[in-house]
Amino acid sequence: MIKVLFVCLGNICRSPMAEYLLKDKVKKLNIDDNFYIESAGTSEEENGNEVHYGTKKILNNLNIDCSKKRARKMTKEDYDNFDYIICMEKSNIYHINRIVIDKDHKVFRLLDFTGNQRDISDPWYTHNFEKCYQDIDEGINAFIKYLGY
Ligand code: 4NP
Repeated sequence: MIKVLFVCLGNICRSPMAEYLLKDKVKKLNIDDNFYIESAGTSEEENGNEVHYGTKKILNNLNIDCSKKRARKMTKEDYDNFDYIICMEKSNIYHINRIVIDKDHKVFRLLDFTGNQRDISDPWYTHNFEKCYQDIDEGINAFIKYLGY
């Protein structure tokens, strides 16, 4: 079982998009039994809130339902429970390091799995959820390849 936790700041825009996209892709590849996938934020600001409308719209257009997702903050226990803790941008790593020490080198940045290493832009500020989706899709495809599928 490969346990993956996606992490962003608020857990309402980027990391839920990554969570549900990866869930959808592994299901379509018929390898979903091998995965446990969740997402969390480094902040508790949005705790209990639904996925942001912009992310919901992207996912709903792909026939992916995320209506049950509620935002939550990453915990120390998450670090022990997950194999891959995949964040969206450099500042997420800085904030994760204030919650846990990455002694097992489990913390990654999603687009570092691609040939074009960079941050995923934050649609909270850019309002560009489509660009965010293109980046996350690229990163997830590269991650699946990295795992050997
Ligand atoms: P997310 O987006 O980290 O992708 O969920 C944000 C959500 C909330 C805030 C910033 C980014 N905020 O400043 O409240």
